[in-house]
Amino acid sequence: MRIGHIQLANRLFAAPMAGVTDRPFRQLCKRLGAGYAVSEMVTSRKDLWASLKTSRRADHAGEAAPISVQIAGTDAAMMAEAAVYNIERGAQIIDINMGCPAKKVCSQWAGSALMRDESLALEIADAVVSACAPHNVPVTLKMRTGWSASERNAVRIAAGAESAGVAMITVHGRTREQGYKGSAEYDTVAAVKAAVRIPVVANGDIDTPAKAREVLESTGADAIMIGRAAQGRPWIFREIAHFLATGETLPPPRVAEAKGWLLDHLDDHYGLYGEATGVRSARKHIGWTVQGLPGGAAFRARMNTIETCAQQVAAVADWFDEMAERDERLPGTPAAMPGDGATLQ
Ligand SMILES: Cc1cc2nc3c(=O)[nH]c(=O)nc-3n(C[C@H](O)[C@H](O)[C@H](O)COP(=O)(O)O)c2cc1C
Repeated sequence: MRIGHIQLANRLFAAPMAGVTDRPFRQLCKRLGAGYAVSEMVTSRKDLWASLKTSRRADHAGEAAPISVQIAGTDAAMMAEAAVYNIERGAQIIDINMGCPAKKVCSQWAGSALMRDESLALEIADAVVSACAPHNVPVTLKMRTGWSASERNAVRIAAGAESAGVAMITVHGRTREQGYKGSAEYDTVAAVKAAVRIPVVANGDIDTPAKAREVLESTGADAIMIGRAAQGRPWIFREIAHFLATGETLPPPRVAEAKGWLLDHLDDHYGLYGEATGVRSARKHIGWTVQGLPGGAAFRARMNTIETCAQQVAAVADWFDEMAERDERLPGTPAAMPGDGATLQ
């Protein structure tokens, strides 16, 4: 699996998720079997680049290659500039966001609204590809199947993007109008795959190894991308990799392993955000991890009362140690699709 000239470790991708796939989480996904992980979107609005939020998103210190940054905007020149800005900060692949249904994004500056204006979408693709070419940085594009059921134009946009020089297309199998409702459909993904020669990535509702295989087979896609199912369960990538390679299902992780991964993640997380912000923003990752586990809901509530990194780490370690006394492996499986982010994205 390649994106332009860049060879990837495998065809299992972590989806960009604002507020989730920061550098520490991307690193964790890569460590646990994702061959590729895309950053949270970075705005093309220059006035926001100096903000703490955007500068954290553009910080790739120590990140395993390839470093991929998603940019969002509706002005071709600004998007081109944003691409170069991120390349100067370490991006090796630039991804254009055409998939975000959030109102904030659609009405102001980006996301799936672009799918409604095909000529602007392709103008942006053209401008970003031209800006990235001198840096030898491939450009990819992530979109939905269309704006609405009656405006399902993913195939047309994909073909236009390929002509503009885009190196890979990801399709989330829902329209913008659907938000996160209903189920993802993969026929449009298959139609996009049939229409272009560049790699196509299938995305949406993939939450088990069996589903991963089914989607790869039914769409002919070159890769699959996983978002919500990786929240609190980043080891899904190695589970899928094992299943695709052997047809066998891995047992759940050992409690001690899960504890180690979460503690490493927390350490990395605090390093990026500092104590005051880090302790709070780590709560969601801890919450997703313990969701569906015995006593998880009560532990999650307790987390909200803890205000220091040291106490948070100690509480997590103790909780997993207690579980390890009862079970060698993580009991049960978390409820599918935690935090669907419907209000966010
Ligand atoms: C909390 C959250 C944040 C998201 N942020 C982005 C984003 O910044 N850019 C983007 O292209 N898609 C974003 N998405 C969409 C995901 O990348 C993905 O397309 C979608 O969740 C469907 O995949 P899944 O069913 O595996 O979660 C976000 C999704 C969620 C749940």
